[in-house]
Amino acid sequence: MPEELERRILTHLQGLQERQLLRTLRPPAGIDLSSNDYLGLANHPFLKKRMIDAVELEGCGSTGSRLLRGERDSFAAIERRFAEFKGTARALYFSSGYLANLAVLTTFPEAGDTILSDERNHASLIDGIRLSGVKRVVFPHNDVAALARVLKDCEGQGQTFVVTESLFSMDGDRALLAAYAALCRGTKAALIVDEAHAVGVFGERGSGLIESTGIDRDVFVSINTAGKALGVSGAFVTGPEWAIDYLVQRARPFIFSTAPPPAVAGALDASLTLIASEPERRTELANRAGYLRACLAEAGISTPADSSHIIPVILGDNDRALVVAQALQSQGFDVRAIRPPTVAPGTARLRLSVNVNLTEATLERFVTALAAVVGRSLPCSAGSS
Ligand SMILES: Cc1ncc(COP(=O)(O)O)c(C=O)c1O
Repeated sequence: MPEELERRILTHLQGLQERQLLRTLRPPAGIDLSSNDYLGLANHPFLKKRMIDAVELEGCGSTGSRLLRGERDSFAAIERRFAEFKGTARALYFSSGYLANLAVLTTFPEAGDTILSDERNHASLIDGIRLSGVKRVVFPHNDVAALARVLKDCEGQGQTFVVTESLFSMDGDRALLAAYAALCRGTKAALIVDEAHAVGVFGERGSGLIESTGIDRDVFVSINTAGKALGVSGAFVTGPEWAIDYLVQRARPFIFSTAPPPAVAGALDASLTLIASEPERRTELANRAGYLRACLAEAGISTPADSSHIIPVILGDNDRALVVAQALQSQGFDVRAIRPPTVAPGTARLRLSVNVNLTEATLERFVTALAAVVGRSLPCSAGSS
């Protein structure tokens, strides 16, 4: 064994422990206030049946990359359906949102281009931008004026890409997509939108915030994870014909990776059917989120002013977030402490995520428990944002 390496790693692990940053793998236990299964589809009998049927028909593994023996008619069919759902020409399915973001950001930008990225973008976007190797400028969160300034600076210097989440995963607030679209229109910058936490939830069809903002024509490509509201796994990149054609030719995470299990296409088809036929799930989710936000406000626990189903309760230091999460877990609520580097230092939090299976009575019980725990866990003030 390389003993020096072992010592080095053990020192790192101990450092994480001392800073309350050591993570543990903990299976679901208790009432779900932390998953991304917003619409309650992950365990839906219709999805399970379609996936089981597809396993019977197509087996478990895809046996190769999509460009080799891993291709299936069911992938092509679900991509056609997803593109229609999103209102775009084409879609391409990846085995995860992380890989889809790496693919987009390492395939389209070339030397001489610039990527402008919101400071709160998800790690998978940040990693993709780093891997792209092109110049990057990070603009302050949701700051349209700052973005306008950097866009102006980039004029005439290769292609510019603007990258943002539509609903931010740790803060639950929305990007100012209409303003970004207008800016990009004026400067020919290409707008890339990660709809991970919005797809399935917002818009008349449920296709996301691009749809509900009405900026479909202004977006270059969007990334839509299928492991969150859609209840399955993987992610669709949607965009124009030429962009998807190019991803198939050049995106390394697509080319050099075994295709996902074919049966996910069956579950995804069922998911899209339910999203189309049961819009009440979206309404119910919005109602539940509104109810939880109102209960938190009534209990004196402040949260950022948005209305989405992701509600951060910011507690400040890592230790406090852990103590509060553990106290609530011991009372049967599955909430998790979110700490740096997932969020900025000093903003450790509970990330509450609402799903349609939570009743108002459960949410009331939860807020009573949270208020009691937060009240006890000095020294930070209750959940100021
Ligand atoms: C905004 C955002 N983009 C991308 C991803 C990655 O998606 P996946 O979990 O499918 O890899 C996540 C996952 O949490 C996310 O929150």
